[in-house]
Amino acid sequence: MATDTRVTFSTRIDIPAGAREELVEVLNARLADAFDLYSQLKQAHWNVKGSDFIQLHGLYDTVAADVIDFVDLIAERATALGGLALGTARLAASASSLDEYPLDAVAGRDTVTVVADRLAAFGSTVRAGIDRAADLGDQDTADLFTEVSRAIDKHLWFVEAHLQA
Ligand SMILES: [Fe+2]
Repeated sequence: MATDTRVTFSTRIDIPAGAREELVEVLNARLADAFDLYSQLKQAHWNVKGSDFIQLHGLYDTVAADVIDFVDLIAERATALGGLALGTARLAASASSLDEYPLDAVAGRDTVTVVADRLAAFGSTVRAGIDRAADLGDQDTADLFTEVSRAIDKHLWFVEAHLQA
């Protein structure tokens, strides 16, 4: 199915249509990643095993709760710019830049490695979005991406600390 990411709604917002079109494209790309990341965090939350079960089970749910808020934040910025938010599970799965969660990652340390890898990958693409949005003259989207990437960096610290000693 062809995915039309073009801006389709007129708006009085004072950001030129050409810039909005590119911004919506970037926002939809990160929306797909965020939705995919959310599902992978829940996958880890549900399936983690081992002596660290209870704290990893809780940690992954805390991060997932933040990430689903980011899904909403990113999608609604796309619509505020006159775009169409591409937010179904199928669209996210086909557009996500993240690697799929390996189903055999259930041992605590294995889940930590996968989750840390996914958080780092998402943080990296969101951070790239900060400069892209600023270049397109949209400090608000740059600020949104800054908020998201800063939070993801903190979650990465919490998760990655399990591997650092
Ligand atoms: Fe749960």
